[in-house]
Amino acid sequence: MSQFRTFILALVASFGLPWLCLIVVPAIKYQALQPLTYDKDADGIEGQYPQAPINRQGQLVYAREGCAQCHTQMIRPTQLALDGWRKGWGQDQEARPATPVRSNTLLDYLGEPYAYLGVQRNGPDLANYGWRAPSREEIHQMLFAPKSRHDWSNMPSFAHLYQVRLAQGPVSDKALKLPKKFKVKEGYEVIPTPEAENLVNYLLSLKKDYPVPGESAAVAAAPAADAAKK
Ligand code: HEC
Repeated sequence: MSQFRTFILALVASFGLPWLCLIVVPAIKYQALQPLTYDKDADGIEGQYPQAPINRQGQLVYAREGCAQCHTQMIRPTQLALDGWRKGWGQDQEARPATPVRSNTLLDYLGEPYAYLGVQRNGPDLANYGWRAPSREEIHQMLFAPKSRHDWSNMPSFAHLYQVRLAQGPVSDKALKLPKKFKVKEGYEVIPTPEAENLVNYLLSLKKDYPVPGESAAVAAAPAADAAKK
């Protein structure tokens, strides 16, 4: 009997503890997040955190279309300081000063009713997509016909977020400029629906690497320290 009791206790411990630590505690912490303001003296920045919140209307489309099945929005901490492997994931884009990409913290999802961490990383992580995104037009083109941008793309098309309509009068400036192979019927044009516009606004607002209040001094100081070294 005592062996049975040990068995049950071990079972509860091996499933219960991870459940508590990985699900219950983070969920309680997430729900308790409060709006934050930067402290000018400590952080060296003024204003609210995050500096630009994500677009909520677009997030609903992101949720409904199941984008999170293939895309994560979570950069894990690197062990052994192997920062090199995630080059280009954050603000370190060609046109921008090189800022080290930081891993995400719970605070990056502040104000979002649900954190779209993602189920699988089949496509690229989108946590900082706003920094590397091409033009709106190109994002629309990719969502309508992913293979028109890379012929190897295995992302599904979201053509149902676009309206294919008879072109009347002058060509609308919203009409997608698709490559020849992906053009719709002669005399028709492809126009993004308001939902597609919201989704693109959301993708452009994904910049989950703003300095975190309280930790930002270190982050903000890093590029300055780099500059001083040069
Ligand atoms: C079945 C998996 C799958 C689903 C669902 C999916 N994607 Fe993708 N996505 C991919 C793959 C794979 C790539 C990489 C290939 C490419 O760039 O075309 C990609 C690429 C992208 C990129 C370019 C990323 C970059 O760094 O350049 C964006 C933006 C994107 N997807 C947005 C979305 C949005 C928004 C949705 C939902 C409406 C969505 N995806 C749904 C698989 C998926």
